[in-house]
Amino acid sequence: MHKHTFLMRNNEAERGLIIVPAPKTPVSSVMSIIIICFILLLFCPSQLKAQLGTTPNIKHIVVGRCYNYVTLVNPGLRHDCEEIWRQFEGAVVCQSSCNVTVEDYHPMFYAMPQTWPCDKFLFWSKTRTLMHSYAAVMRHFWTLEDTLVGYMFNDLIWCGQEDTGFDFDSCPEWLACRNHPVYSLWRQASQNFAEMACGNITVLLNGSIVNAFNRLSMFGSVELDSLNPLKVNYVNIKVVTNLEGPHLESCSRGSIVELLQILQSRGFRWTCTDNDQTLMILQCIQDSKHPSCRTCANSLVESFTVK
Ligand SMILES: *[C@@H]1O[C@H](CO)[C@@H](O)[C@H](O)[C@H]1NC(C)=O
Ligand SMILES: *[C@@H]1O[C@H](CO)[C@@H](O)[C@H](O)[C@H]1NC(C)=O
Ligand SMILES: *[C@@H]1O[C@H](CO)[C@@H](O)[C@H](O)[C@H]1NC(C)=O
Repeated sequence: MHKHTFLMRNNEAERGLIIVPAPKTPVSSVMSIIIICFILLLFCPSQLKAQLGTTPNIKHIVVGRCYNYVTLVNPGLRHDCEEIWRQFEGAVVCQSSCNVTVEDYHPMFYAMPQTWPCDKFLFWSKTRTLMHSYAAVMRHFWTLEDTLVGYMFNDLIWCGQEDTGFDFDSCPEWLACRNHPVYSLWRQASQNFAEMACGNITVLLNGSIVNAFNRLSMFGSVELDSLNPLKVNYVNIKVVTNLEGPHLESCSRGSIVELLQILQSRGFRWTCTDNDQTLMILQCIQDSKHPSCRTCANSLVESFTVK
């Protein structure tokens, strides 16, 4: 009965039909309190946080993606998807949600070794959307998301609970704790990816933000330090700004200068390009009316764009 009333109020609140009767009888006060509590529940952070629990059906997603990868995306890999899942589960479940280290994932990574041909490695920071179009067009590039581990865990959230498997209700924020289960996995995956990098590698950075090269990003804190100058021939950096700006950083301005100094001092050969034409064209395809697209590339873009 009480529950039924609550649900009715609940509906009303959603439709904005909250009418509090003028004479405050005890019953109506109770009703108002229920309504207020409900509104608080709707908007309070714990409600939002609850949505950041472990991704539902995580096992089916992860194992399914693994089979998809080893069967269709990259056939020839002989990996045991069930075993990889078991090792993953072993690292995460029944742990406190802030207590999964990169070492805890070592058995899982051991079950999924992978090597890559040289000259294909693409690194990026704060350029995710553009990176996807770039990698799709320049088909020879491979990013972390193209590796088995990246493919399996992309966009998923997970954390354990001390005595009952995964916590599907809420997980801590990504950077809320040092040994966050999601962060630790990506940290180790990024490190492995960078350690394997060889030949010419490409780095896409965002010149429309301050600290395009950020020492706290995955690229700045893990990948850069894991690159091996004896294996990497050239680090080719491409700085890309939004068409509409702001144009805050470039190869000769801001944090990227610091990155070039670090590369130099560690013995890397590098190149740095502002306004790479392919990247510009990709941006112009999405926004062909933009004034910056009236360049020599314009006729090219126009011929691509269906009017
Ligand atoms: C974290 O994990 C370690 C080893 O796995 C364990 O000894 C420690 O008690 C755990 N700490 C918490 C707070 O769960
Ligand atoms: C640069 O970063 C901003 C803020 O994160 C983002 O909105 C923008 O799309 C990024 N630009 C490019 C070219 O990736
Ligand atoms: C590697 O990069 C350098 C500098 O950009 C370039 O001259 C060279 O042709 C590239 N080599 C390959 C194999 O892509």
